Amino acid sequence: MKEDNLSAFEDFFIVGFSDLPKLQVPLFAAFSLIYLMTLVGNLLIMITIYSNSHLHTPMYFFIGNLSFIDICGITIIFPLMLSRIFQNGTHMSLAECLVQAYCVMVMISTEFLLLSVMAYDRYVAICNPLRYMTIMSKAVCMRWAAGIWVLGFVTPVPHTVLVSKLTFCESHTVNHFFCEVPSLMKLSCSSTYAIETLSYILGAVELMMSFLLIIISYINIVSSILKMKSKGGRTKAFSTSASHLIVVILFYGSICSTYVRPTSSYSMQNNKLLSLLYIVITPLFNPVIYSLKNAEFKMALRKTKNSGQIAGTKTDSNIAKVVRKIDI
Ligand SMILES: *[C@@H]1O[C@H](CO)[C@@H](O)[C@H](O)[C@H]1NC(C)=O
Repeated sequence: MKEDNLSAFEDFFIVGFSDLPKLQVPLFAAFSLIYLMTLVGNLLIMITIYSNSHLHTPMYFFIGNLSFIDICGITIIFPLMLSRIFQNGTHMSLAECLVQAYCVMVMISTEFLLLSVMAYDRYVAICNPLRYMTIMSKAVCMRWAAGIWVLGFVTPVPHTVLVSKLTFCESHTVNHFFCEVPSLMKLSCSSTYAIETLSYILGAVELMMSFLLIIISYINIVSSILKMKSKGGRTKAFSTSASHLIVVILFYGSICSTYVRPTSSYSMQNNKLLSLLYIVITPLFNPVIYSLKNAEFKMALRKTKNSGQIAGTKTDSNIAKVVRKIDI
């Protein structure tokens, strides 16, 4: 009982990168650069979509949402981590810890849901182009987006509640650079059976459902692309779905390499470094992937950058022509 009372008041000790003292300067430089690039890249995507009315289509709205999630996700972790990288570890209260853990889970589950809705959007655009505008109307997209955000915020609640009820005994040292649920569970001396079961069930349902939606969408997309007669049509359909597929692979790959492993190979140190992957890779490469692979987007980006000089000139009608040609 005494432990119980203690744990409510005691702080957690977040190790961060204080176990790698020689690497603190290079890590600080690298992380600052990554954070800056992620912010600039994703903000540029959101501004480009916002300021080009021909990009006001479901696909770009969802890409904008993805950029927004990525900015939020990395901002929950990086500024705090960077500001404390030169300290010898830091303290966090249980409440602060839970808020951070909850926010990270919200971002992960929202991103899973969003990626599967984006796959569905590509499926409708490619396999059912004539009805695309009715199936993915503005109202429907709003509903999808609202559903994604609501589910994203609700699904991590049970986890967070259960973790808040754990008792922590001797060690309060979290060998991580943010408050992560698996690391907290390792410290608990009460039974984590309920959380683990819940994780497996919720995780499996959410992961499987979004994964199945993506797989089914892509099976249909590929078979419809193979059936297309014109080479131009095939290239168009391929290029828009390829960007999405690359992002899906990066996100699923990095999450799975961190969390879907046999428990025997689970070490806190590896886990800490691996989780950098899913926090950094998708947010950092999203803008690159979408702006490099997508002619329509590149054009709009260039237009946004030069908008001061070319507004309302002939270039606009040229862009409109090209856009009409490559629009799916
Ligand atoms: C997210 O998607 C919804 C629905 O398509 C859209 O209305 C909204 O503007 C998007 N938000 C961002 C930040 O892109």
